[in-house]
Amino acid sequence: MLEIKNLNTGYDKKQVLFDASINVKRGEIVSVIGPNGSGKSTLLKAVCGLIPIWSGEMLLNGKKLNGNEPPDNLKLGMSFCPQGNRVFDELSVKENLDVGGYILNKAKLSLRINEVLEIFPMLKERLNQEAGSLSGGEQQMLAVARALIPEPEILLLDEPSLGLAPYLVKELFDKLVELNKQLGITILIVEQKVNDVLEISNRTYGLKLGRIAYEGTSEDLINNKKILKELFL
Ligand SMILES: Nc1ncnc2c1ncn2[C@@H]1O[C@H](COP(=O)(O)OP(=O)(O)OP(=O)(O)O)[C@@H](O)[C@H]1O
Ligand SMILES: [Mg+2]
Repeated sequence: MLEIKNLNTGYDKKQVLFDASINVKRGEIVSVIGPNGSGKSTLLKAVCGLIPIWSGEMLLNGKKLNGNEPPDNLKLGMSFCPQGNRVFDELSVKENLDVGGYILNKAKLSLRINEVLEIFPMLKERLNQEAGSLSGGEQQMLAVARALIPEPEILLLDEPSLGLAPYLVKELFDKLVELNKQLGITILIVEQKVNDVLEISNRTYGLKLGRIAYEGTSEDLINNKKILKELFL
């Protein structure tokens, strides 16, 4: 579904990613792990069109993504949940969801908000609450909910567990599995919570210094502490 081939990119003259190739098949949860600064966020930013690529090829369902901006990719079915900036604090939950559907017409937006609220019932009770007053876990759920409004086929998530207590990480990851299993949403997730993400993903790529240093099933990696250690050395 998503094919990233020999991606090279970086910032100004500083190269961050070197010949990175990643494949995500329809229906999979694929994780990308690696130390701080290894280029995980850069990879997702390049794929969703937030930063230009230097060379390589990116395809979604066979359509070229090279040169696309995020709204172009959204229309092709790819939604992105960036690292850190979760929600618009001063906007209500409802307004945050509206923002997520900026490419939709009014009727479709209202339909999608209702559908997404069925998946996240705890947001339903808080529609008029300021997003900034939600708990960390609720804010992250809102961020994921917002990304789902345009009805993406593939969801890109950058460290959704950041700053969450362990039980909230579990709750969020259970929700991601539910989205994947019940709605068939394909997921590409970047994570530092390695043990948790290996549990929910089918396959994993390890990034080290901007290069893909490992590729395999998550199951193999769970049982191979040596590779994990090398990756994070
Ligand atoms: N906007 C930017 N301008 C210049 N350099 C940047 C920029 N964003 C990231 N970098 C650099 O690119 C490299 C990779 O950063 P990136 O954010 O992709 O890492 P990461 O693997 O996501 O790390 P973390 O786990 O800490 O989120 C780092 O050396 C970082 O300093
Ligand atoms: Mg990052």
